[in-house]
Amino acid sequence: MTRETDGQSAIECRNLWKIFGDRAQEALIAAKAGEVDKEAALDRFGCVIGVADASFSVAEGEIFCIMGLSGSGKSTIIRHVNRLIEPTDGQVHVEGRDVMGLNPKELRELRARTIGMVFQHMALWPHKTISENVAFGLEVQKVPKAARKTAADDALQRVGLGGWGDRYPDQLSGGMQQRVGLARALAADPDILLMDEPFSALDPLIRNDLQDEFLALSRDLKKTTLFITHDLDEAMKMGNRIAIMKDGKIDQTGTPEAIVLRPETDYVARFVSSISTLKYISASEIATAGDVAADAPVVGPDTPLPTLIEMLKGDVAYIAIRDGNTSIGRVGSAEILDTVSRDLGRR
Ligand SMILES: Nc1ncnc2c1ncn2[C@@H]1O[C@H](COP(=O)(O)OP(=O)(O)OP(=O)(O)O)[C@@H](O)[C@H]1O
Ligand SMILES: [Mg+2]
Repeated sequence: MTRETDGQSAIECRNLWKIFGDRAQEALIAAKAGEVDKEAALDRFGCVIGVADASFSVAEGEIFCIMGLSGSGKSTIIRHVNRLIEPTDGQVHVEGRDVMGLNPKELRELRARTIGMVFQHMALWPHKTISENVAFGLEVQKVPKAARKTAADDALQRVGLGGWGDRYPDQLSGGMQQRVGLARALAADPDILLMDEPFSALDPLIRNDLQDEFLALSRDLKKTTLFITHDLDEAMKMGNRIAIMKDGKIDQTGTPEAIVLRPETDYVARFVSSISTLKYISASEIATAGDVAADAPVVGPDTPLPTLIEMLKGDVAYIAIRDGNTSIGRVGSAEILDTVSRDLGRR
């Protein structure tokens, strides 16, 4: 897909609404006016609000997580990106183009080349080999056989399944089948990956491995990824940024640090209360005013807590926190203990 402007977001949703039901337009007007919430919309109009006024943009190369409980609207949002469903209101732009403005040929190209999808349960063709499964999208696109084979082998190699191409799906474990699904999405070398709970059905250890491998792959391939999960830990691990959804709305969007340290709503605060803040706290957040010894070590404001603790283990009373020439304050054992005690107190 050609780009119309440079430097724009890879994916952008603006004021997206999706309301299911015959009286969606009436429900939309009432919901926009703040007259009905999800429950009242169902009562009054028999309509389900799937997504309510969601706006976000995903930068090129970013992993953007959408996190929320079951039914909060995550899958409904992702389905708009390649126009599997159409919005009741609002806009979706992919690489600068309005997906609602695409003609059928452009839409086919968007789905086949620009975007790759991975789901929770990847349905593989049982009678095709792994390699044929991975190459299937390319076959539909009429890519010549030799090129298909090369692309499939490359993709299988990338997901750690080099050498498995001639086997059949029922010879593979669930985790391996998910890798095949990822390889299939990668085979067409799309710019964007849409991943809807790709690892949710896997055992924790296998899920952890696949998360690590996907992060490594992502650093390498730098594909823009919209990653959906209902698991906060997974979102915190995978996302450069996270949007937290509730009842179709996005409650807060931010980096994992911002979400944990500065929740903007009670809902987000309750959600993240199970997570320790300690991994996300840096020197500037805990520095206090006061003098330091002339030979005190000096660190920057972003220095993480574990580094500060390591430094204080030696014969150091205080560490000076400086941003260039500006003093931010100091951190000593008391600041560390306060921080730990606050973190324990919120859980
Ligand atoms: N085709 C549909 N018709 C009617 N309601 C729908 C339809 N698809 C989704 N919904 C409703 O929209 C809301 C959001 O559903 P969605 O599938 O997006 O949630 P989700 O966050 O992906 O949940 P899960 O974690 O269970 O996959 C739910 O209330 C759901 O019942
Ligand atoms: Mg879903």
